[in-house]
Amino acid sequence: MTARANDEPIRLAAVGVGRIGKFHARHVQEVAAADETCLLTAVVDRHADTAKRVAAELSAGQAHEILAFDSPEALAAAGVAEAAVVASRTADHRRDTQALVESGLRVLLEKPLADTLKEAKELGAWLEAEPGRNQSVMLAFQRRYDEPLLRAKALLDAGRIGTLFKIVSILEDPEPPPPGYQSSGLLTDMGVHNADEVLWLSGRSPTAVLGMGGGLYNQKIDGVVVEDFDDAFVQLWLGEDVVAQIQVSRNHVAGYRNETTLYGTEGLIHVGHFDDDPLKVWLEAYGKEHVVIEKQAFPTRNYERPVPVFIRRFGPAYKAEVAAFVACCAAAKPFAVTHQDGLRAMAVVAAAAAALRTVGQAQPL
Ligand SMILES: NC(=O)c1ccc[n+]([C@@H]2O[C@H](COP(=O)([O-])OP(=O)(O)OC[C@H]3O[C@@H](n4cnc5c(N)ncnc54)[C@H](O)[C@@H]3O)[C@@H](O)[C@H]2O)c1
Repeated sequence: MTARANDEPIRLAAVGVGRIGKFHARHVQEVAAADETCLLTAVVDRHADTAKRVAAELSAGQAHEILAFDSPEALAAAGVAEAAVVASRTADHRRDTQALVESGLRVLLEKPLADTLKEAKELGAWLEAEPGRNQSVMLAFQRRYDEPLLRAKALLDAGRIGTLFKIVSILEDPEPPPPGYQSSGLLTDMGVHNADEVLWLSGRSPTAVLGMGGGLYNQKIDGVVVEDFDDAFVQLWLGEDVVAQIQVSRNHVAGYRNETTLYGTEGLIHVGHFDDDPLKVWLEAYGKEHVVIEKQAFPTRNYERPVPVFIRRFGPAYKAEVAAFVACCAAAKPFAVTHQDGLRAMAVVAAAAAALRTVGQAQPL
């Protein structure tokens, strides 16, 4: 980690410019416009035509041209970036990260850390093998930068609901992933967000897991991206006195649903409602006898055009995450969320996936 010379902006590339990568690139440009700590110089995509098209779109209105490359290796050889935001297919996370880190770039890597727990462990071991590498990767768990969830954590840590004993974390998509999307399985692709949230909010590590999964709705539709399950409930013990439930689904047809509930000995904190206004995220905290500790709505960002549901919910968090990454790169500081957090969450979802039971494996009634 070397600090930037002469206050020159950190030169960044966006690697993988599909659904989410394009937004990361835009957010880099917005951070650059606001404080000049960074500059988006390049985009990379294995689909060379996509790289060229997105580079041209992102160059519009900029003082410089955004370059297009078809591999992380070509980007590294050109020497036009000190850091990169990687949102390539999950199956490419490990090789893209290794190629970039090998060339001295710091990387903001989309979740999950890798396609399988085995690959994630191998990537983790490779990053740990040399002192220069082990601070190269920031894991993009955007919930850690989400204002409503940060407020919930602050209330929890301040003891406002007493001692935490239960967490329920729900993430439900309104539809299956788009055609061509590469999923590592329902829990690794979606539940990894909830797993990290539970670890982060509780400060605990799970000690036992069980759960049930089903192919209830979208997996029965012809032509849908094939996944192991489209709905799952996972229960975790975090020691003997704290439990958590993770609920993930591709079948919440009424719209995108994110809710987190923290149960304490003195009250409850709840983040997220499902209602008719997706541009507001509610946080409510109650003490005993329904006493309101805090109740407020956090506006999300209105991009004023159709955007993927996760962007509509977490837009400001994705941008804050990019800003935190740039700030650490500019100051040559360690990242607060690293590959180790990615690995811990992967270990939880891998154990959960192995523990899931289907109807044929359950106790018959
Ligand atoms: N943090 C979040 O909330 C969040 C949300 C969505 C996606 N993601 C993660 O971001 C990553 C990208 O997801 P996405 O939704 O943008 O996916 P996407 O399918 O839209 O894009 C992925 C990238 O892979 C490329 N690609 C597609 N087919 C390819 C092929 N055959 N060979 C090589 N490259 C190919 C695309 O051009 C694109 O660059 C995934 O790892 C996903 O888990 C995270």
